[in-house]
Amino acid sequence: MNNAMKEHWNKIYSSNDIRGLGWYEETPAPSIKLLSKCDIGKEAAILDVGAGATTLIDYLISDGYTNITAADISEAAIGKLKERLGEEKSALVKWIVDDISQPEHISQLRDVALWHDRAVLHFLLEESQRQTYFSTLKKVVKKDGYAIIAAFSMAGAKKCSGLDVVNYDCNMLSERLGDNFELIEAFDYVYHTPSGNARPYIYTLFRKKVSLLSR
Ligand SMILES: C[S@@+](CC[C@H](N)C(=O)[O-])C[C@H]1O[C@@H](n2cnc3c(N)ncnc32)[C@H](O)[C@@H]1O
Repeated sequence: MNNAMKEHWNKIYSSNDIRGLGWYEETPAPSIKLLSKCDIGKEAAILDVGAGATTLIDYLISDGYTNITAADISEAAIGKLKERLGEEKSALVKWIVDDISQPEHISQLRDVALWHDRAVLHFLLEESQRQTYFSTLKKVVKKDGYAIIAAFSMAGAKKCSGLDVVNYDCNMLSERLGDNFELIEAFDYVYHTPSGNARPYIYTLFRKKVSLLSR
């Protein structure tokens, strides 16, 4: 666990109203759009990596998904999300406090039908962290499963929450995922922060192939 990062994010979530955070979405519309392209049932295992206090979890519950896992390095973030959901809805979600760059628990998961990451991968600045991120994704996502990855695009900001980020385009993500993942859809999306600043993202949806190539 990267304790400095954990402390950073705990401080952010403990000292701010989540609705004012520079990534807060009233409705996670671009993620919902890509989710609608996934051929998965309501019982499919969905993992939101670096969930923070995302409203995607509220959406998934209200849309009838029953196998949702929310993971984040910050227990304060998870606490805020649980607080908003309330006890009854929180009990419908599996919760994991873990660091995706050195996972202990996320890496134990299997047969994930949908990996969702909005604005987490781009914080991994070291190559070894990125390698761990992608090898974990490849291991836990089942054949035929999906990955939605949304990151700051090449035209996007170079920092978020006071931290440096790595900017991505669709090809960089395709290369990282390799031949066993097929790109289903990608689009640019400009999110506006609560204070009105434009934050260009690249949104991607990949599907893991059924017959895998040996690499
Ligand atoms: C910019 S926020 C995005 C939160 C959420 N995905 C959303 O769209 O609202 C980044 C989130 O990633 C989490 N995070 C940062 N580094 C992480 C890591 N190494 N492992 C797991 N979570 C991490 C932070 O605690 C924070 O909740």
